Amino acid sequence: MSVSSFLKSRSLRMESALEAALDRCAGAPPELMEAMRYSLLGGGKRLRPALALTACELICGTEEPALPAACAVEMIHCYSLIHDDLPAMDNDDIRRGKPSAHKRFSEATAILAGDALQTLAFEILSDTRDIRQIVTLAKAAGAEGMAGGQILDMTAEKKRLTLEELQHLHACKTGALIRASLELGALAANADEKQLAAFTSYGTHLGLLFQITDDILDVEGDAAVLGKSVGKDALSEKMTYPQLLGMEEARRLAEDAANKARQTLEVFGERAHILRNLVLYILHRNH
Ligand code: IPE
Ligand code: IPE
Ligand code: MG
Ligand code: MG
Ligand code: MG
Repeated sequence: MSVSSFLKSRSLRMESALEAALDRCAGAPPELMEAMRYSLLGGGKRLRPALALTACELICGTEEPALPAACAVEMIHCYSLIHDDLPAMDNDDIRRGKPSAHKRFSEATAILAGDALQTLAFEILSDTRDIRQIVTLAKAAGAEGMAGGQILDMTAEKKRLTLEELQHLHACKTGALIRASLELGALAANADEKQLAAFTSYGTHLGLLFQITDDILDVEGDAAVLGKSVGKDALSEKMTYPQLLGMEEARRLAEDAANKARQTLEVFGERAHILRNLVLYILHRNH
């Protein structure tokens, strides 16, 4: 199966799982529900849930145990995008090919829809009764993970970081959630320590690769294909790989991260071929 049909099949599965998850708060004020549905359903690559489901399947032969984690991680991701687009942060008007939540609704509604998606994520994950999964997601989304990375990103605007500092920023703002997606899938499957460590390492390199290619696409991607604006990083003087090192070196480091990610899968042998191909897909992605 090609990586794109693989992602497509997982994303169809996620669409109905996310719809069902939203039904849990059907009694919420309609304007809040509408904004949550608008941002969560019908868009995005659903990469993080696909990683959680695939890691789980690789260990225990079925994706089922990772469904709560897959929903939860996509909700956290979606909340992070809603807040990332706010005028106080990246001030982006287009997301997933449609007006950003604060453009379609109001800033207050967008903030609250993000907040509510975050708490719903933990409500869903609590169904597993697995404290390890809850802590893994909390850490990845929180002050030492995505939220911490987002403030590092904001405070780095118009500044110059060292490569090490930029790597740390990326590892937090994007890497933490990608890494956690794999760890959650592995935990749901009761993976052993060695398997868990392999996913942690794969997720670390994949997360870095993902943000380097995101930064590259902001320079040379097509807004219509990406479903979001391009050229904004340079305009805001964001600290990115192309900005710090130039395009050629950014590409070289993306390839380096891709090679490292592929190497970490050796413990799984041929069974990990989708995760191996996914690395190349992300390296060469156009959206
Ligand atoms: C965009 O993530 C934000 C980053 C962490 C770089 P994605 O590129 O996965 O966004 P969607 O989910 O496909 O819209
Ligand atoms: C966003 O990074 C990371 C998170 C949302 C946590 P970017 O700001 O580069 O993502 P895009 O380019 O707006 O999708
Ligand atoms: Mg941002
Ligand atoms: Mg942004
Ligand atoms: Mg970006």
